[in-house]
Amino acid sequence: IMGEDGYFQPQMRKVPTGELMQPSRKTNGYGVQAEDTRICVVMVGLPARGKSLIAQKVVRYLGWLSIPAKTFNVGQYRRSNTPTPTAEFFDTSNAEGERLRRAAAEAAVDDMIRWFAAGSGTIAILDATNSTKDRRRWIQERCDAEGIETLYVESKCDDGDLIMSNILEVKTTSPDYKGQDPEKAAQDFRNRIKNYEKVYETIDEDESDMTYVKLINVGKQVIINRIQDYLQSRVVYYLMNLHLKSRSIWLSRHGESNFNLSGQIGGDADISDRGEAYARRLPELVKQSAGDRQLTVWTSTLKRTIQTARFLEYEKLEWKALDELDSGVCDGLTYAEIAEQYPEDFKQRDDDKYNYRYLGGESYRDVVIRLEPIIMELERSENILIVTHQAILRCIYAYFMNVPQERSPWMEVPLHTLIKLTPKAYSTIEERLKADIPAVSTFREKGSLAKHQ
Ligand code: ATP
Ligand code: F6P
Repeated sequence: IMGEDGYFQPQMRKVPTGELMQPSRKTNGYGVQAEDTRICVVMVGLPARGKSLIAQKVVRYLGWLSIPAKTFNVGQYRRSNTPTPTAEFFDTSNAEGERLRRAAAEAAVDDMIRWFAAGSGTIAILDATNSTKDRRRWIQERCDAEGIETLYVESKCDDGDLIMSNILEVKTTSPDYKGQDPEKAAQDFRNRIKNYEKVYETIDEDESDMTYVKLINVGKQVIINRIQDYLQSRVVYYLMNLHLKSRSIWLSRHGESNFNLSGQIGGDADISDRGEAYARRLPELVKQSAGDRQLTVWTSTLKRTIQTARFLEYEKLEWKALDELDSGVCDGLTYAEIAEQYPEDFKQRDDDKYNYRYLGGESYRDVVIRLEPIIMELERSENILIVTHQAILRCIYAYFMNVPQERSPWMEVPLHTLIKLTPKAYSTIEERLKADIPAVSTFREKGSLAKHQ
């Protein structure tokens, strides 16, 4: 929905009349889409155009934002009737092949509709080539009949070298070619693409009533048509920011602070002498890990991260969104003092750390929502080093490493350690470099009063 100012207006939950308008201690969900929104994202494109990769990234991004999303991959359904097909299977003049492929698509759509009907799903991704108008019309009819919105995402790419490297990177190791010679597998996959090319129809004017986005040559050009609501616009914006350049992201907590030494949480303390030693060592550690690559350094607006980053000779940016989780009335207390002064709160936080919101402060869920622009900017960027805080680092790490909400707030992230994350096609590689400068541990296990030591 476009507002008068030209910006998309979030669709808010309607507050029933009579509902008390008190500030809520319980955190809500993403809180910006109508509660009954159900969207089927229909992938479109020839094989090896990154459709599965895009689908998987969107599901991870949405899951991180607590938006229930699931991929329905037609290839997986097809493998149950045809586990290792050759290129001929995908020739449309092969009637048996056509019948089996159609059956796989129907099984995937049936399961998707059942998943929505079970009530917990918001976004389904139908991951298949969906490369003919006829197939798209059929999907449209099935979704219309169930009141499910559709968003078509077409990935077009005519860069022969990129397609060849995609084939070698992911297709020769696909279960479709299990136990086969990679060179023969690559040749067969090229023939499979040729069979698809014979019937492929790009989305064009006579489908202009559909909601779609066309990503051409990995975002060099993006065509958007009829985006209807806030959630669709979020997905499209995310897709527009993706790139395939190889790069890494480095994460570090600030050097040990005086509050870390005294066991107090929050605040805006200076770094300790050992924290200062880490700050001085950091440039060398980064050099060891990044070589001569150009980085940009992001810090929070709090003193301990700015002090830690000050010897790094790169461009620097301060982000308010990277400030530590706000512990509200507990700011400046130790965990033992919180347990004594706010015993109920202390227990509630242990019971559900992700959702617990400090009195006058934030929950991990709140932090994730404020970090969303950071993630978007990270997706657009190349090499970035982030110097930030324990809770914030956990949330950013959880996005890249797909860590579930029950676990992410309890992850141990030691001080004086540089973490390097390198996103690859279907995974993220992690390396850790320890600075060998002692620091207290600020980690508190569930149920414990552990002092920082
Ligand atoms: P298939 O139809 O066989 O399932 P696919 O389109 O789902 O193929 P993927 O398995 O996702 O293809 O291919 C992954 C490869 O595509 C990766 O090597 C990835 O780097 C690359 N890739 C990702 N995004 C794009 C894009 N927009 N255009 C082209 N290639 C891309
Ligand atoms: O103790 C360091 C610190 O960054 C505090 O400022 C912050 O409140 C805390 O860690 C966050 O960690 P947890 O969520 O485990 O309490």
